[in-house]
Amino acid sequence: MTAIANLNIVPFVSVDHMMKLVWRVGVESFLIELAATIEEDFRRWEIFDKSPRIASHSSDGVIELMPTSDGTLYGFKYVNGHPKNMRQGRQTVTAFGVLSDVGNGYPMLLSEMTILTALRTAATSALAAKYLARPDSHTMAVIGNGAQAEFQALAFKALCGVTHLRLYDIDRSASEKCRRNLAGSGLDVTLCTSSQEAVEGADIITTVTADKQCATILTDNMVGPGVHINAVGGDCPGKTELHRDILSRSDIFVEYPPQTRIEGEIQQMPADHPVTELWEVMTGRALGRSDSRQITLFDSVGFAIEDFSALRYVRAKLTETGLYAELDLLADPDEPRDLYGMLLRSKTVGSV
Ligand SMILES: NC(=O)c1ccc[n+]([C@@H]2O[C@H](COP(=O)([O-])OP(=O)(O)OC[C@H]3O[C@@H](n4cnc5c(N)ncnc54)[C@H](O)[C@@H]3O)[C@@H](O)[C@H]2O)c1
Repeated sequence: MTAIANLNIVPFVSVDHMMKLVWRVGVESFLIELAATIEEDFRRWEIFDKSPRIASHSSDGVIELMPTSDGTLYGFKYVNGHPKNMRQGRQTVTAFGVLSDVGNGYPMLLSEMTILTALRTAATSALAAKYLARPDSHTMAVIGNGAQAEFQALAFKALCGVTHLRLYDIDRSASEKCRRNLAGSGLDVTLCTSSQEAVEGADIITTVTADKQCATILTDNMVGPGVHINAVGGDCPGKTELHRDILSRSDIFVEYPPQTRIEGEIQQMPADHPVTELWEVMTGRALGRSDSRQITLFDSVGFAIEDFSALRYVRAKLTETGLYAELDLLADPDEPRDLYGMLLRSKTVGSV
């Protein structure tokens, strides 16, 4: 399969195809290329349609829709967050997404996004750290060693030059899984018995835990001068990871303030607490890190433009790799007004 011939046939990237694509490109190259695509889109931030994601909350978790458009392409992601799923043998986060042609509204791609979300979250985190962490950062603590953890570790290795990892999870087997998976990656991995131990000597602290409530993964005394915090796990109303005092001492960088103020660590702060938007740092409109003792915090929640970039990146790989299936998704009769005629003719060709 090399070209996508008919508009009514939608390329579909399954989980199997996504995994093959990641290995075809190479996981670290994939993260680097994806981060470059995300950066390209952050640099043209102002042209995108933007809104906080549409969330449907329940006592078990959340289901969210994340749409955006650059005027030429339209994308959306369906994603859930159910921290209790893991205990029942399921993923906390699953996702799929669609990319469409704004000109005719036809979808141009349907893709799995559970793996792609882990990759795009890690790529965005590392991209932010490239601007915000001290350039001599080599050691990263990762607190929460679940599905996202290895992706974060590899993105920070590929994009920021992290060489040493200090892992902590309340469930030791998660840290052991992480160490096993990263064997041969070139990362030097240490397992720790507490968050406090994990952050010792860390230049970067990534928190990526899952809980359905406000937790205190990091307290103020654990964060020394010059550290960059990549706070990934707090991404829903009533779901945070950092003690409020850390926020008061940090310079805070966010994706899209109207969404982050609802979902991020800054939901703990007054509505006008100062934050800097990451795209402004990337375009040189705002300052990132200004000195080596400053504490920088990327209050990550995940924004629709990152998913749009990820879908755009995957779509661009289709023709070259052929790693997709053709999905008969859109009814598209030759005579556009003869939709019923198309249905009628299908009866006579023996479908009953
Ligand atoms: N910001 C974003 O863009 C983004 C993207 C994807 C996922 N997330 C969030 O990241 C979090 C992790 O996602 P995941 O898919 O890795 O989940 P997961 O369920 O696979 O892993 C979470 C891990 O956190 C550990 N944990 C829970 N409480 C802890 C604590 N107090 N201290 C240390 N470890 C603790 C669990 O034991 C588990 O191993 C979720 O909250 C998810 O919503 C954010």
